[in-house]
Amino acid sequence: YTDPTFSATLIAWQQQHGRHTLPWQNTRNAYLVWLSEIMLQQTQVSAVLGYYARFLERFPTLQSLAEAPVEDVMAQWSGLGYYTRARNLHKCAQQVMEKHGGIFPSDPVLLAELPGIGRSTAAAIAAFSYGARAAIMDGNVKRVFARVFGIDSFPGEKKTEAAMWLRAEALLPETGIESYTQGLMDMGATLCTRSSPDCTRCPMQPRCVAFATGRVKDLPVRKPK
Ligand code: ADE
Repeated sequence: YTDPTFSATLIAWQQQHGRHTLPWQNTRNAYLVWLSEIMLQQTQVSAVLGYYARFLERFPTLQSLAEAPVEDVMAQWSGLGYYTRARNLHKCAQQVMEKHGGIFPSDPVLLAELPGIGRSTAAAIAAFSYGARAAIMDGNVKRVFARVFGIDSFPGEKKTEAAMWLRAEALLPETGIESYTQGLMDMGATLCTRSSPDCTRCPMQPRCVAFATGRVKDLPVRKPK
């Protein structure tokens, strides 16, 4: 599946048209990156912005978060939803203090052993904080891949998901992992959306199997009954 033109196209698009001024960008502080990635699980950017700023006012450092009572953490999270994230966030802060001397590991495998950090979130944290070459795979990326590569099996299926991870790893750029990773997220969130994809502005249009075959609206395939 290796194809350097895929990442080159995505990186060029991200640099011209992607998002560059979100509050968790332009930093390599893993605490700031980690907090953003946890808040952005299941929650849109617009809903996260205010919570992110207020949370960091109350807990400016990993240590301050680890040492706080869990009730204070829950109070700051109140309204964001999916409260398991907040409990895991607090546990994770304590484990990074105890097991890693207060420094988030740069190895995605070690990151994924921490509470609340799955394989894709681990890759995003490692890429944005440390420039590590690691592949993300969330709902947005699955949709982009299903369309660009014309994958017509259900992405919730184990085999399909495993194939998508392999493809994602093979497509990683040699350099520019931050722009590449952000570009995938931005394309999925702003262009290659589920119900109103904007193919006219898409840098992948010339290579998109779904576009070429008129199947953009039909991919990714919905859960089979
Ligand atoms: N969703 C998950 N991670 C994100 C990020 N870094 N920027 C924008 N949206 C995201």
